[in-house]
Amino acid sequence: MAKKNQTLGEFIIENQAEFPFSSGELSRLINSIRLAAKVVNHEVNKAGLVDITGAAGETNVQGEDQQKLDVYANEKFIQTLTNREIVCGIASEENDNFITISGQKDDHQNKYVVLMDPLDGSSNIDVNVSVGTIFSIYRRVTPLGTPVQLEDFLQPGSKQVAAGYVVYGTSTMLVYTTGHGVNGFTLNPALGSWYLSHPDMQFPEQGSIYSVNEGNYVHFPKGVKDYIKYCQQEEGDRPYISRYIGSLVSDFHRNMIKGGIYFYPTTSKAPKGKLRLLYECNPMAFIAEQAGGKASDGFNRVLDIEPTELHQRIPFFCGNREMVEKVEEFMSR
Ligand code: AHG
Ligand code: MN
Ligand code: MN
Ligand code: MN
Repeated sequence: MAKKNQTLGEFIIENQAEFPFSSGELSRLINSIRLAAKVVNHEVNKAGLVDITGAAGETNVQGEDQQKLDVYANEKFIQTLTNREIVCGIASEENDNFITISGQKDDHQNKYVVLMDPLDGSSNIDVNVSVGTIFSIYRRVTPLGTPVQLEDFLQPGSKQVAAGYVVYGTSTMLVYTTGHGVNGFTLNPALGSWYLSHPDMQFPEQGSIYSVNEGNYVHFPKGVKDYIKYCQQEEGDRPYISRYIGSLVSDFHRNMIKGGIYFYPTTSKAPKGKLRLLYECNPMAFIAEQAGGKASDGFNRVLDIEPTELHQRIPFFCGNREMVEKVEEFMSR
């Protein structure tokens, strides 16, 4: 039973009972993530004071200009997970290839891989708007004791054992699921502890917010254009409220609390969609479903997609169940 205001440490210990035969490896892994999140939070908070805003001067595998904080967050998460020898492999939005980790003591004996978007919403860093981190955890499918392979990372989202995000917002929160509901913890920066502030998070029954980069309207498929018109029509509880931050984590977080839908459809610039299946869509889809919501590529359940490549992109529709079903209905017409 989740108790409000208990610390994340207490919560993890108490909830290990959810994994009766576990070795505690997943708990230790979540512990490492909460530590790295604190380190990144500390740096993000200083962004205006020290020289960490702006471009890093490199382009990542996504074809995006890396920001200094993209690089910093990526390094910190990788360092923390590598030093603690807690996973056998890591894949990141910011790295061309996955990283193989062999422990000093037992070679390749860890059973989990982590996939992550170390800093989500990079374009918001320099203007002091919320950014985030997204992570996704799978059990490896190749044998223990051997180096991880691509197939350990290319698993459908339905195989995730845990997923979560950190939002570096007006307060810093860590929200995650291990498939037993969604819980949100708020960081007390003075004490450096995370407290359970949002137990058992659920989308409200009705949603009334739609979040999309409407500047791309002319490039959207017909079904999406029609759905946007539907959101804007005066009828019943419509027109809906339009809110778009441009940080998936923050847009999703607000929508889960207030009720709404986030979508990033295909555009002519991004014919396969923009968001990355493994680092962004799958973890958010897992959390959404655990919170009573739904995630779709416009036609199919996101968590059922068989990934074919590490940096694969998909169109993404995620939020209140009925809202996602409505947009699917428009898409299929
Ligand atoms: P990232 O900063 O990790 O590359 O992700 C950016 C993503 C996502 O966070 C956001 O919702 C979307 O890109 C915004 O894209 P547009 O600026 O095209 O709207
Ligand atoms: Mn990026
Ligand atoms: Mn992102
Ligand atoms: Mn990112």
